[in-house]
Amino acid sequence: MAEKVTVPEISRMKQRGEKITALTAYDYSFARILDEAGVDILLVGDSLGSVIQGQQNTLPVTLDEMIYHTKAVVRGRKRALVVADMPFLSFQVSVEEAKRNAGRFLQEAGAEAVKVEGGVQLLETIEAIVRMGIPVMGHVGLTPQSVHRFGGYKVQGKEKQEREAILQDALAVEEAGAFSVVLEGIPMDLAQEITRRLSIPTIGIGAGVQCDGQVLVVHDMLGLFDMYTPKFVKRYADLRGVMTGAVKNFITEVREGKFPDEEHSFH
Ligand code: KIV
Repeated sequence: MAEKVTVPEISRMKQRGEKITALTAYDYSFARILDEAGVDILLVGDSLGSVIQGQQNTLPVTLDEMIYHTKAVVRGRKRALVVADMPFLSFQVSVEEAKRNAGRFLQEAGAEAVKVEGGVQLLETIEAIVRMGIPVMGHVGLTPQSVHRFGGYKVQGKEKQEREAILQDALAVEEAGAFSVVLEGIPMDLAQEITRRLSIPTIGIGAGVQCDGQVLVVHDMLGLFDMYTPKFVKRYADLRGVMTGAVKNFITEVREGKFPDEEHSFH
């Protein structure tokens, strides 16, 4: 368990048939907790737009904001692989910009890999980033940066044509040299087929149990974010409830003059 998780180790986990665990992290304290609990990958996701910034979607998140959060996560982890999500506009405009921006995550923030949303159309970009020595995680299916094209956060790949397009996207990501790929919001049988066809690990979110690993947004799985809960999210805790209870206790004790007591005061 103590061994540092590396990109080659993530590849070997698929070969050994070991499931890969990933959670999002956006700050030092959470990174420490998740890392010490033993999660394999900390993904600094642009989902922070929703759960940290309170935005409607991930599109307003900037590269500088992502780098800021990635730095904090890197300081908090010892073992897990840190993957930084490249935000909207940081990799789509040109291959040159994508290369420079991916490099910033490693040079300035200490990330070990970057994630990009897209498939066939990103083949050249992923290849170019990988050629720089930067490991890339792909992301296909329901890619949140394309929310307006999809007309909402809808499961992708239900129709035959869409299904084939997602399979081609996943194959392109592998061909481009990515070390893994996130499969988001697709039918489980499609995720199973992609997982079988690819030699790189698939990390599922709303893609069923057959993926090589699973990722969730940490605020969702801990019950911290309740604005909306997709069907695929399992709540492993109710931290919102725990926090609300603690804050209410604090308010009551302060109002009643019970806090601070002797134990928490100086003489
Ligand atoms: O931004 C994010 O957190 C993600 C994961 C949910 C895969 O892309």
